[in-house]
Amino acid sequence: MKAKSGRTKPQFAVRRKLAAATGKVYECAMDFDDDFRAQLRDLMVWRRDVRRFRSEPLPAGTLDRLLAVACLAPSVGLSQPWRFVIVESAARRRAVLEDFTACNAEALASYDGHIATHYAALKLAGLAEAPCQLAVFADRDTATGHGLGRRTMPETIEYSVVAAVIALWLAARAEGIGVGWVSILDPTRVKAILDVPDAWRFIGYFCLGYPESEETEPELARAGWEQRRPPSEFVLRR
Ligand SMILES: Cc1cc2nc3c(=O)[nH]c(=O)nc-3n(C[C@H](O)[C@H](O)[C@H](O)COP(=O)(O)O)c2cc1C
Repeated sequence: MKAKSGRTKPQFAVRRKLAAATGKVYECAMDFDDDFRAQLRDLMVWRRDVRRFRSEPLPAGTLDRLLAVACLAPSVGLSQPWRFVIVESAARRRAVLEDFTACNAEALASYDGHIATHYAALKLAGLAEAPCQLAVFADRDTATGHGLGRRTMPETIEYSVVAAVIALWLAARAEGIGVGWVSILDPTRVKAILDVPDAWRFIGYFCLGYPESEETEPELARAGWEQRRPPSEFVLRR
């Protein structure tokens, strides 16, 4: 790869030797500079859960590129348990939307009073509009990775798939593409709609497309449903 100066970067091992010879601190194989770090933070700040999509489709090859990034995620024992189902069939999309509508109505019924009114006003999925739709599963039966890391914590299979989802989410945002996670669904019904193996655990259904607007604040915060809290509330020391 080329450094900013245009010079070809020395290989990893050469750089290490150079560092040893010159006594200079060897940092890392890649020069991630301050600009990159600032942009990476911006990516986190501008990543949003998107429920309002423009109608234009993603350019050809985009989803394959995003899925390839997702597959770079860490996974327990290198098990790579992620399974991606690209949902193209109009009938299956319709069935997922119907399931969402039913589950969302049940969720609404679980609230009372003003919070129910508030919930009813939220838009909680872009299933009717999103040009690209993806269901993600974790294959609990996979032999890949030979069970390493899973004996005491079998749930690490699901954690690995979530790691892949986050990689895809950020890679999409870096291309100006919005992602919306839909969990207001019945996993058993989704599995039947998509006809996937029993051993696959449903992780989430994802809507992808170009967002109607760009925001730095979560939609639920803007709607007054919940607020972001400072990191100090979540960190403790022992
Ligand atoms: C596991 C998971 C499930 C989610 N399910 C839904 C959902 O069904 N509907 C929805 O509108 N948002 C869903 N979200 C999005 C969250 O509401 C959103 O991440 C949160 O409000 C913060 O907003 P932000 O992602 O824009 O920062 C989900 C997010 C996660 C991580």
